Amino acid sequence: MLDKVKELIGDVQSFKTTSKEEIEVFKIKYLGSKGLLKDLFNEFKTVDASLKKDLGQALNNLRNAASDKVQELNEALEEQTETKSIYGDLTRPSEAIELGSRHPISIVRNRIIEVFSKIGFTVSEGPEIEDDWHNFTALNLPEYHPARDMQDTFFIEQNPDILLRTHTSSVQVRYMEENQPPIRTISPGRVFRNEDISSRSHCIFHQVEGLYIDTDVSFADLKQTLLYFTKEMFGKSKIRLRPSYFPFTEPSAEVDIYWGLETEIDHKITKGTGWLEIMGCGMVDPNVLKNANIDSEKYTGYAFGMGIERIAMLLYQIPDIRMFYENDVRFLEQFKSVL
Ligand code: DAH
Repeated sequence: MLDKVKELIGDVQSFKTTSKEEIEVFKIKYLGSKGLLKDLFNEFKTVDASLKKDLGQALNNLRNAASDKVQELNEALEEQTETKSIYGDLTRPSEAIELGSRHPISIVRNRIIEVFSKIGFTVSEGPEIEDDWHNFTALNLPEYHPARDMQDTFFIEQNPDILLRTHTSSVQVRYMEENQPPIRTISPGRVFRNEDISSRSHCIFHQVEGLYIDTDVSFADLKQTLLYFTKEMFGKSKIRLRPSYFPFTEPSAEVDIYWGLETEIDHKITKGTGWLEIMGCGMVDPNVLKNANIDSEKYTGYAFGMGIERIAMLLYQIPDIRMFYENDVRFLEQFKSVL
């Protein structure tokens, strides 16, 4: 009988299955109320006392082996069904991929670049931390020039002055120092002004500067370019130029587009006039050309500068400039469909 029990232990240990039904059959066969172990324990009662010690131990081993086996097989089966339910159905549709969105400032900047690149303008960039020469002096704003007060400046160091650029016009100077005409470039970038923050103005914002230098460039060329731009950008073809003053251009003008009164709900956009200012511009002052080592007898040119936030607010009817910098996803998500 001992040999028979040992053989059964071997059988139990080598038993393998992945089927739930077979595990159940195995369990009943060994551990069931009419199972093998029950029979063997009954038989055990009749054996000679001298054999009981070894046989008893062997029977216990068999019972433990059988119940361990059942447990082990059931655990393996459970694990398998778990993995199956995660990876099992390869035909099911995949999770939707969350798409991000571009920031409205990037969308508008890219659009402006696209519009100007169609007529031969390339993109140039300059540093945000500038020296006095590029931000002011070379642009015809010598020290103590009253127009310096038009833009409140964040200074980083004084004597010699190092500052955060107050406009992207500084890139004009850098570009002319490095390149001879013909020049056609636009310079998008971030600018800084020591101004109070409100719904209409911020101490950090973005501009795009434009510069065109060649022989025989006239004010008429500037007007045509502006007309082309407003048509492409806003779908509006009525503009007007109001005489203005900038130290780096002569003559200078401010550009208004006719926006109409249809969107004028609270008199905020055009103040009831239908006209809206979108940028400053003018013919590059010969002093600026000279400061950047360009022959002002031979070449003329025009320049313009506009604020990206202002254009984005107009295009998307954004009522408060601070919304651009708060990173509120409820705001940003609304630009998902725009590239
Ligand atoms: N730099 C001016 C500003 O920040 C904008 C500007 C006006 C740029 C006239 C120009 C220009 O190039 O010709 O207000």
